[in-house]
Amino acid sequence: MEHGFDAIVLGAGAAGLMCAARAGQRGRRVLVLERASAPGKKILISGGGRCNFTNIGAGPANYLSANPHFAKSALARYTAQDFLELVESYGIAWHEKTLGQLFCDGSAKQIVALLLEECAKGGVEIRCGEEIARVEQDDGFTITTQTGSYRAPALVIATGGPSIPKMGATGFAYDLARQFGLKLVEPRPALVPLTLGGEEVLFRDISGVSAPVAVSANEASFAEAALFTHRGLSGPAILQASSYWRPGEPLFVDFLPQRDAAWLLDAKRANPRAGLRAHLRDAFPARLADILTDKLALEGELGNLPDKALRAAGERLKRWEFRPNGTEGFAKAEVTVGGISTAELSSKTMAAKRIPGLYTIGEAVDVTGWLGGYNFQWAWASGVAAGDAL
Ligand code: FDA
Repeated sequence: MEHGFDAIVLGAGAAGLMCAARAGQRGRRVLVLERASAPGKKILISGGGRCNFTNIGAGPANYLSANPHFAKSALARYTAQDFLELVESYGIAWHEKTLGQLFCDGSAKQIVALLLEECAKGGVEIRCGEEIARVEQDDGFTITTQTGSYRAPALVIATGGPSIPKMGATGFAYDLARQFGLKLVEPRPALVPLTLGGEEVLFRDISGVSAPVAVSANEASFAEAALFTHRGLSGPAILQASSYWRPGEPLFVDFLPQRDAAWLLDAKRANPRAGLRAHLRDAFPARLADILTDKLALEGELGNLPDKALRAAGERLKRWEFRPNGTEGFAKAEVTVGGISTAELSSKTMAAKRIPGLYTIGEAVDVTGWLGGYNFQWAWASGVAAGDAL
């Protein structure tokens, strides 16, 4: 049995490493136990290998949670600017790609190296390749792995969510939550492509086509690109909306985000000899224009088409209803919506209210960010909140 630690952090991902570094630098003796062979594997593949490490505009409105207020405290106390300053202190070059999304110019490896250096400064011990067999609680916590047993008065669950099991992601955090009697908000895949069936399979024929759109699901709306795939719908606008979409519900795509529903009527007045199909081909990629024209079931010169039909077509293009028949699941989901209920936790420290010494942070918690650096910002902010409290 190894004693001598003030805290054990389970999981050497974004949140766990940040938390361990903060606590270590405050003089706490911290042990991190990681199942994978190396720390920070999800960070390494994030942002296409360049890690979208934060979003400069990150605020509570960019997160989903059963309690939308929960994330406020941690996000306010450790901001995107704070993480950016840390990145700059390591001389890591970065750029804003779009919409406040900050990426490394070089490689995501630089972010992992930063976190490991911060841990080293705090004397944190990181052990990889540890299979956790048992977690027991008496007057502290005892963690048993295949290499031995470790004890500490505080335990931090930072093992993430079940998205991308191929990367070693598991529902282990939820198993531990159940063991400790903490409530869960039903986890479901988020930032995930949606699948189409029935009559909508026709859209699969235009796999590879993308277009700027605005996508709405459950009152949330995102103006970015959508991509048609061989299984259905993807691209940033769809991924964002997927976090809000529920099975059985419709998804609305505005194919004319910069125009209004009278677009075709205006075109009829300006150029009555233009064909509807040709007009749509001017506005959309040709294959998308063709499928939309076919589905609108209108053909011929604009001047010969009734105003009523053109207005209805414009309205349909502004609010095209899709009925996805599912998602591509955790295998393709960038994150998980749901998780350990925030009702169980202190929003200031991430401590479990009913279990002294137990903390949970990062994606394991029912706080999920939009696409665009928001999830890492939550990992950093919740990691700091717990790290400063340990
Ligand atoms: P994370 O998953 O990072 O870490 C959990 C750790 O716990 C892992 O190292 C895991 O191996 C370990 N673990 C699991 N079970 C264990 C067990 N039983 N025992 C011990 N250890 C265990 N976000 C963003 O803001 N910008 C981006 O660019 C991207 N890009 C991106 C790309 C892809 C492909 C994915 C899948 C995800 C993203 N994300 C993202 C989301 C982001 O990666 C995610 O939100 C954070 O990594 C969550 O951090 P955590 O530390 O909570 O979990």
